[in-house]
Amino acid sequence: MTTLMLGTRSYSAWSGRSLVIGVVGSGDEVAVRASSALPRTAAKHLDAVLPSLDVDAKVASTTIVPAVPGLKADVVVLVGLGKDAAADGGRAGSDSLRRAAGAAVRSAGKGSVALALPHDDAAELAAIAEGAASGAYTFTAHKSAADEGGDREITVFSDLDRKASPKEVIEHASTVARNVSWARDLVNTAPNLLYPQSFAETVQEVAKASPGKLTVKVLDEKALADGGFGGITGVGQGSTRPPRIVTLSYAPRSKKVPHVALVGKGITFDTGGVCLKPSAGMLTMKSDMAGAAAVAATVVAAAELGLPVAVTGYLCLAENMPGANAQRPSDVVTMRNGTTVEILDTDAEGRMVLADGMCLAAESGPDQILDVATLTGACVVALGPKIFGVMGNDDTVRQSITSAAERADEPSWPLPLPTDLRATLDSAVADIAHKGDRMGGALTAGLFLQEFAKDAKGNTIPWAHLDIAGPSFNEGSPWGHVPKGGTGVAVGTLLEHIASLA
Ligand code: BES
Ligand code: MN
Ligand code: ZN
Repeated sequence: MTTLMLGTRSYSAWSGRSLVIGVVGSGDEVAVRASSALPRTAAKHLDAVLPSLDVDAKVASTTIVPAVPGLKADVVVLVGLGKDAAADGGRAGSDSLRRAAGAAVRSAGKGSVALALPHDDAAELAAIAEGAASGAYTFTAHKSAADEGGDREITVFSDLDRKASPKEVIEHASTVARNVSWARDLVNTAPNLLYPQSFAETVQEVAKASPGKLTVKVLDEKALADGGFGGITGVGQGSTRPPRIVTLSYAPRSKKVPHVALVGKGITFDTGGVCLKPSAGMLTMKSDMAGAAAVAATVVAAAELGLPVAVTGYLCLAENMPGANAQRPSDVVTMRNGTTVEILDTDAEGRMVLADGMCLAAESGPDQILDVATLTGACVVALGPKIFGVMGNDDTVRQSITSAAERADEPSWPLPLPTDLRATLDSAVADIAHKGDRMGGALTAGLFLQEFAKDAKGNTIPWAHLDIAGPSFNEGSPWGHVPKGGTGVAVGTLLEHIASLA
């Protein structure tokens, strides 16, 4: 486990392994920047060696300098904070600081690490702390050798005065980071080991062990069938490992608070069903539960932070397999709210489990519903692998999500829900088809979900849809604070958004 703490006294006296300091500028014009002025001897030494080390101040690029006089750390990790920062008096923005802190901790390797990066306010200090913890993340659960890299001690130095409560900032960051790591662990766990029932059990265990005020309720396959959840029942019926909907709730003491419902896509493996995916496209589909993982981690974090907002998570867990009892294209299923849906493609399973989850969420009368899902390849085509799409029926909620995402340094972009495309979901045999035109596939998926953002009387519930298919799983190398594999994306955004409602 990673421990985050606030440095007391001065970073020059810190005697652990790696001390992280910033560099700004470009080309040969680079300069060192720390949270407070460097000791003279250290500054002089670094100025002397910088030119010969070819130090790059590009954000998150790192250079290791051993034994710097005037500093007690074994090595100094110089990390780039960008060139704009130099013009700005050596201050980088929170996204650069987050990426730099993460990259520096990763490149520092094993052993204790301390960061003395420049920052102006609590938000930048939080970005450094969260970025550092994020960069320390490793997933070794399936390695048989003892996990040596797992225990990291991270010290963050700050020159902010008491009024900015740096200690609370670090504690907050550590709660966020721990839950982001949990979301990543869930995504990275092999799908033979993480399936609807085991996912549900893990959530129960985590909720029980958490100091937060949490309650968990699990609907098993019988309860789902009896409850008329035809969407998730249909998706799950091709697997020997039956579906679950887990309701994970946090309610603060005061009842006079906003109530947010979060619905997460939790396909523990997506083969495509009988409309089987080609094997290349299937390889990463253990990550098709990243929405449910983000929702679970957000609810637990909201509870542990004691946010003054009631948050209920609905984890829609199923395995999409082409077993003998699997659903077929042209099947018609009846959803929890009575809507009949014609199945056209068993690989468009996410919206079916989410729609049932949204019906259940609507029954509790929330002020808003947010769904989080690795929903469409089309969204990845539109926005690339690092940006998630945000759609919705309410401009205020949608904009609140994109601005929260900006504060959390999780890139997102709004996408439209064009009324003109709604007709492509018309079905000849049922109330609606679950799939429209291939063109604009992220939008037609959103339009399908929009039909379920309604209460029993048919009144619209403010709703936003986060399509995280791109950034939820990093198939490439680690970059900045983002590791390979599960990223935990959306947890930061959701927490920022929820906190903003208070
Ligand atoms: N889980 C996939 C979407 C996905 C694709 C996530 C790539 C992450 C990376 C989803 O269930 C799916 O298969 N969507 C189909 C929908 C289509 C059949 C309408 C898609 O995007 O091709
Ligand atoms: Mn699919
Ligand atoms: Zn899927």
